[in-house]
Amino acid sequence: MKENILAITGPTSGIGRATALALSKKVDRIVLLVRNLNKGEVLKNEIITHSAVHVDLIHCDLSELASIEKAAAEMKEKYDSINHLVLNAGVVSLSRQETKDGFEMMMGTNYIGHFYLTHLLLPLVLNSEVKQIVVVSSNGYKFSPLTAPYFKRKKFNPITSYGQSKLGTLYLMQALYDAYHEEGLKTTAVHPGAVSTNLGKTPKNERFGNLVYKTLDPFFLSPDEGSVSTVKAVESPERYNGKYMHNGEILPLKKHGNDIDARNYLISATLDVLNLTHL
Ligand SMILES: NC(=O)c1ccc[n+]([C@@H]2O[C@H](COP(=O)([O-])OP(=O)(O)OC[C@H]3O[C@@H](n4cnc5c(N)ncnc54)[C@H](OP(=O)(O)O)[C@@H]3O)[C@@H](O)[C@H]2O)c1
Repeated sequence: MKENILAITGPTSGIGRATALALSKKVDRIVLLVRNLNKGEVLKNEIITHSAVHVDLIHCDLSELASIEKAAAEMKEKYDSINHLVLNAGVVSLSRQETKDGFEMMMGTNYIGHFYLTHLLLPLVLNSEVKQIVVVSSNGYKFSPLTAPYFKRKKFNPITSYGQSKLGTLYLMQALYDAYHEEGLKTTAVHPGAVSTNLGKTPKNERFGNLVYKTLDPFFLSPDEGSVSTVKAVESPERYNGKYMHNGEILPLKKHGNDIDARNYLISATLDVLNLTHL
């Protein structure tokens, strides 16, 4: 029997860390795709003290296409299948920043980075028994519809731009479902809830971020609680296939979350900018 392999982005903090710790008990091998190898080593040691799972650490900075290519090439060398690919990493930037490839940082990392990684790893996922991709999206998708220009827009509002990047990931899940469910691919997008993590904290605004999280603490979920939606999705690939889910409940989408034309425009512009012919 093939090894049951799960790969996850952004496992070094918050929801991803809690998800990796929970799911490492349920698979044969967990692949930690991290931008910070030191943080990855710490997590790897923590996981292996709690379970017998094999843990592999692979450097992958989702804000840089070359890094994603390198990570995917390393994975293709090492594995011939991945049962579960969990697209969890995410960034919030309060000022306008750009990725190495010149995309606005949140769209470039949360959406384009995951789109490209998925494209490169899809053959491994489709070659597995389970064939599952779980996208950690967000109810932030409700903040704004998505229109061109998508990736290099100069006008910046942190809330709108974050929301659009998460809408992009929701569209990615839907597009994957449409293109590959007949080949057995199972895709789910989850909303983890409002969770107290490091999201949005940068060295510059860390004190402010800590204050916000501390003040609103009673209203936030813990990272363990925030991991529940992803864990449930991974455990029941068929049940939530093609759906947007929170805590086991399939959520109805706002009108722009179901806008097939808007989705098709975005997917086609993404393929163009990445010089790809298909998802
Ligand atoms: N927290 C919430 O209330 C909430 C609500 C809805 C959705 N979400 C979503 O949940 C997911 C996890 O976020 P979180 O709240 O757990 O935030 P977090 O604590 O800040 O964790 C984010 C993770 O993403 C990684 N990451 C950031 N930029 C990256 C890059 N360029 N390349 C690779 N990895 C990168 C981080 O790595 P480092 O450890 O190196 O920083 C970290 O492991 C995100 O997709 C977020 O949009 C969160």
